[in-house]
Amino acid sequence: MSKITNEDKILILDFGSQYTQLIARRVREGKVYSEIFPFNAPIEKIKAFAPKGIILSGGPASVYDAEAPVCDLEIFKLGVPVFGICYGMQLMAHVLGGRVAKAAKREYGRAELTVDDNTDLLWGIAGQSKVWMSHGDRIEKMPEGFLGIGHTENSPVAAMADKSHKFFCLQFHPEVVHTEEGSRILQNFVFEICRCNPTWEMASFIEWQIADIRARVGGKKVICALSGGVDSSVVALLIHKALGESLTCIFVDNGLLRKDEAEKVRKTFRDHFHINLDFVDARARFIDALAGVTEPEKKRKIIGHEFIAIFEEEAKKFTDAEFLAQGTLYPDVIESVSFKGPSAVIKSHHNVGGLPEKMKLKLIEPLRELFKDEVRVLGHELGLPEEICWRHPFPGPGLAIRCIGEVNEENLEMLREADAIVLEEIKAADLYKTIWQAFAVILPVQSVGVMGDERTYDKVIAVRAVTSLDGMTADWAHIPYDVLGKISGRIINEVRGINRVVYDITSKPPGTIEWE
Ligand code: XMP
Repeated sequence: MSKITNEDKILILDFGSQYTQLIARRVREGKVYSEIFPFNAPIEKIKAFAPKGIILSGGPASVYDAEAPVCDLEIFKLGVPVFGICYGMQLMAHVLGGRVAKAAKREYGRAELTVDDNTDLLWGIAGQSKVWMSHGDRIEKMPEGFLGIGHTENSPVAAMADKSHKFFCLQFHPEVVHTEEGSRILQNFVFEICRCNPTWEMASFIEWQIADIRARVGGKKVICALSGGVDSSVVALLIHKALGESLTCIFVDNGLLRKDEAEKVRKTFRDHFHINLDFVDARARFIDALAGVTEPEKKRKIIGHEFIAIFEEEAKKFTDAEFLAQGTLYPDVIESVSFKGPSAVIKSHHNVGGLPEKMKLKLIEPLRELFKDEVRVLGHELGLPEEICWRHPFPGPGLAIRCIGEVNEENLEMLREADAIVLEEIKAADLYKTIWQAFAVILPVQSVGVMGDERTYDKVIAVRAVTSLDGMTADWAHIPYDVLGKISGRIINEVRGINRVVYDITSKPPGTIEWE
């Protein structure tokens, strides 16, 4: 049963495209709620959701594959508009009586769409516009009742419509930014064709989630691994709002956090929000386990194992807990390519990977449908301090992978101080929100310097700052020289043991964001 009762909703059936989540997001951007179901969702479930329109996503298959994914064909009899994108289009053509064939020339990347009919789906779109193609099949014969409404050089039918049934299809992807007027096309479907009202707000998402969490959990207990980052903080607040005292957050201070961070988490969650907080001081345990280790992957493994061991020990105190809340976001959920639906393959959240199976806890992941920026909006609605809402991503292994070579207290102390200066100056220059991540890295390199009249032979700090949309690709941030100068001057003057600062000007790829 759907958790939503009174809003206009769009249903997206997922055929395995890497862009499915983007469709959902674009629809929500227009303030219309959308949810993704696996392509084989039973018709009863679809009817219960009561969508005002259905979008069939793209996918990697060909309709002629032996195991080609097919949805319940009853959807075409529900009387609601259906919009097929890429594979969704080919599937519609195939099952509604048309013919699909391998294109002589595969079309990937940019193409120029010529609009042949701009009365509904392509309403308001210029005669020629850039679109993003990604397919190997094309429509040879349209099903009865369909008309071509747009074409490209290689696709005589790049867009088609059966106006009487309100069935629409596109060979290209309107959800990606490379399709110039893609948002407009999706809006045409949602508003002009499905007649949705733009009434959805984050506030309704909160209401539904709270109702859903209460219904699932009942009077049982929930534990949540709180890291202090935006995702787990938002989950903690949401669950606390739904369940109050039934939630306990476990926070592990691994000694690899930024300056004053552990204390801030304690203050915010225990003192300000009055959430049950199990604060575990495990600093010594992590430092001991990391002694002498320099190899990055080994550091990661040690930290991961140690975290799980500690979390399990702590969780034993809460024997009556039946649920584990996690801040998994949509980009953490790997799309299915095995046609079992998108929930089939899930990447374990790298901070708490492996916990649920071992601990036999049931998972609650209320952010599974959302993107990072949507989570920030949600945090804002829930009253999370701005500082946490906008916090840059921070890796689970923390400063250990920004301390190149051996992780010891001395290096960590210099790194924490330098890192705090980087952030202070980035914030002072009002650059924090436009930068994806900014931080310091301490290098196991000494160089010669002169301070006052004395020769120094001290360590090097590298400053890393990148802009990015999703962390998958990134550019080095073009920070003004005077800000860089201030950062460098302050680090050298204020952090004992550092006499040189360098700025990392590597994009990703070929570099990664972190140094290890
Ligand atoms: P890279 O360095 O691969 O990082 O370009 C991409 C994003 O992931 C974060 N990151 C991690 N997060 N555990 C985490 O929880 C890790 O082991 C890890 N390694 C990298 C990184 O900070 C960036 O946001």
